[in-house]
Amino acid sequence: MSLTDKIIDVKKYFKNDCNLFKEEKIGLDYLRNKYLGRKGLINTIYSEFSKLPKDQKPQFGLEINNLKSNISEEIDDYMQKKHIKLSNAKNKDLTLPGQQYNVGSIHPITIIINEIKLIFEKIGFSIVYGPEVDTEYYNFEALNIPKHHPARDMQDTFYITDSTLLRTHTSASQIHHMKNNKPPIRVISPGKVYRNEDISVRSYCMFHQIEGLFVDEDVSFSDLKGTLEYFAKEFFGDNIKTRFRPSYFPFTEPSAEMDVYWGLDNESDHRITKGTGWLEILGCGMVNKKVFKSVGYNSNNISGFAFGLGIERIAMLKYGIDDIRLLYNGDVDFLRQFK
Ligand code: PHE
Repeated sequence: MSLTDKIIDVKKYFKNDCNLFKEEKIGLDYLRNKYLGRKGLINTIYSEFSKLPKDQKPQFGLEINNLKSNISEEIDDYMQKKHIKLSNAKNKDLTLPGQQYNVGSIHPITIIINEIKLIFEKIGFSIVYGPEVDTEYYNFEALNIPKHHPARDMQDTFYITDSTLLRTHTSASQIHHMKNNKPPIRVISPGKVYRNEDISVRSYCMFHQIEGLFVDEDVSFSDLKGTLEYFAKEFFGDNIKTRFRPSYFPFTEPSAEMDVYWGLDNESDHRITKGTGWLEILGCGMVNKKVFKSVGYNSNNISGFAFGLGIERIAMLKYGIDDIRLLYNGDVDFLRQFK
C-alpha cells in the first residue's frame, strides 16, 4: 500500500472514529491515543515517511503535517467542549443538594427569660440590669447579710478582691435600682449569677435568675401572692397548682418559697420532686425594713415585695432537660432543637 493510500485511509478512519466519539461509543482518550499516541497512526506514517526517497519528502511532509494538525485540532476541540460541558454541568446540576446555611437558634435560657419578661411587662413591670461584678456591700451587707452571717455560707462566693465579687444572686440589683430610683418601683432584673459549687447534673458554677421588686404604698403579702400566681398561670398554664411555704431570707420578712405542682405520674416525676409532686421555683417575701433603710427609704409609708426565680430549673422542667451542663457546653445539635 502506497503512502498516499495510507494517508487517505487514516483520514477515513479518523472521520469514522469522530462519528463514533460523537455517538459516545468511543472515548476521547482512545481517539487521541489511536492517532496521536506514541504508537499511533500518525507516527507509523512518519516512520514510513522517513524511508521515502529524498525528492518525495517535501510533498509528503507537508501532507502528513497537515493531517497531523487537522487531527490534533479536532481532538483539542473535542477536549475543550468536554471541559466546558463538565464545568457547566457543575454549575447547573439541579439535582445537587442546595447549599446549607446554618441559621442560629435562640438559647433555651434566653427563650425562657424573654417569655417571663413579657409576662411581667403585661402587668407594668419594666426591665433593669445590675452588674455581674459587684461589691460585698450590694450583694450582702445592704441586703441584711452582714459579715459572718450564716447566710453567706449558703452561697459560696467567688471573690475577686477582698470586697469585690461575682454576684451570687440578682437581689444585688434591687439595691442598685432602689438607690437610683424613688418608689413606686415595679421592675424585674434578669441576669447571670455565680456560685462556687461543684459542677454536676443539677448544679453549675453560673446560672440565671430573674429578680422581681415591687415597692409602693400599702403593698401587701396578698399582692405578692396574686402577682406570682398570675405569673405561674401565664407561664405554666391555667391549671397549674401553686403553694407558698414559709422560708427564710435575710432581706425579706416574712419570706416564702413558691412551689408548683408537677405531679407524680412517673418515675422521673418522683425523682425530681423528691416524691412530693411539688417543685420549688422561686424564693420571695416582703422587703425587709432594714433593706429600705440601707437604700435611704422611709419604711413608715412604703412597703414592697421581692422574688427571685431560678431560670435553669424552669428551663429544665419545661424542656425535659435532665443535665444542666447541656445548657452551657455549646453542643450545636442540642441547641438546634430550640427553634
Ligand atoms: N436571692 C434569693 C436566692 O438567690 C432569692 C430571693 C429573691 C428571695 C428575692 C427572696 C426575695 O435564693
